[in-house]
Amino acid sequence: MPLLSHASAPGKVILTGEHAVVYGYGAIAVPVAQRRLHAYIHAASPGYGTVIASEQMQVVARLGRTVDPLPALTRTLRSVLDLAGQAGTPDWMICLRGNISVAGGMGSSAAAACALVRAAGDALSLSMSNDEVNRIVLESEVLQHGNPSGVDNAVVVWEQPVWFERTAGPSRMRTKAEATFLLADTGVRASTAEAVAGVAARRRVNMRDYDRWLREMGSISLAVKDALKTGGVGNLADLLNRNQGYLRRIGVSHPACEHLIDAALAGGASAAKVSGAGLGGLVLVLCGRDRQAELASRLEQAGAVDTVGLELP
Ligand code: MEV
Repeated sequence: MPLLSHASAPGKVILTGEHAVVYGYGAIAVPVAQRRLHAYIHAASPGYGTVIASEQMQVVARLGRTVDPLPALTRTLRSVLDLAGQAGTPDWMICLRGNISVAGGMGSSAAAACALVRAAGDALSLSMSNDEVNRIVLESEVLQHGNPSGVDNAVVVWEQPVWFERTAGPSRMRTKAEATFLLADTGVRASTAEAVAGVAARRRVNMRDYDRWLREMGSISLAVKDALKTGGVGNLADLLNRNQGYLRRIGVSHPACEHLIDAALAGGASAAKVSGAGLGGLVLVLCGRDRQAELASRLEQAGAVDTVGLELP
């Protein structure tokens, strides 16, 4: 089948502000260039219809069928077709593949939707601004996660470090600071929708404490934003460790996260925290560049299924 178009989108990591961002506070998110999801659109024979195959999820969906294992992505594709004025179904075989773990805290759903929107836009000769791509990817995230803040789609669409607030949207974060991180995947897969809904349910029965903790996380994000902007990162480790304290309190850490956090701190990292939705997923580790390789093998020995280095700026 001839290739009509190809596009890709990066993974993401949240430095601070996950969960609090759902309640209007700021979060800092950075793209992870080494991890990407690709969408390949191949021309199929007449009458084939549109098929989306996700290699990682090991499922195949057909546009227009009532049984749909990828409802958010088929809806996303329909939005692009509508935008191009295509009422029918093109004869396309779409393959999604890449190295971002599904439900692993690195924004795989946003990256898949973004790659799909861009590839479909290309195949239809539709020129779309980042704002338009972002709007469609956010719709996809709503179908997938229920009440997303919009931070994941923003960082994968713009492919730049972003400061994100729900009302103001994304703004580009320019950072002067040099900081080295390591991302460690616990291998425990967790649903963002469940993690966000869990926080909301617990907050309903303990609103006073939860609102205080979420507000504290918002203040930490602001302080990290200032530190990264000015380059004065002397207190960055303390801020990240404090952020983890609040993530624990709101119930989104997990024994597998705590195990990697302990291993990282024991191995000389200055800070370690859950990143993203939590309940497993990703752990973000702040470490000196000289410690990165050794810490990566230490964390892999401790059970991390994948580690990725990340440098700022
Ligand atoms: C998920 O990457 C980040 C959360 O804050 C959810 C969201 O912002 O939509 C947990």
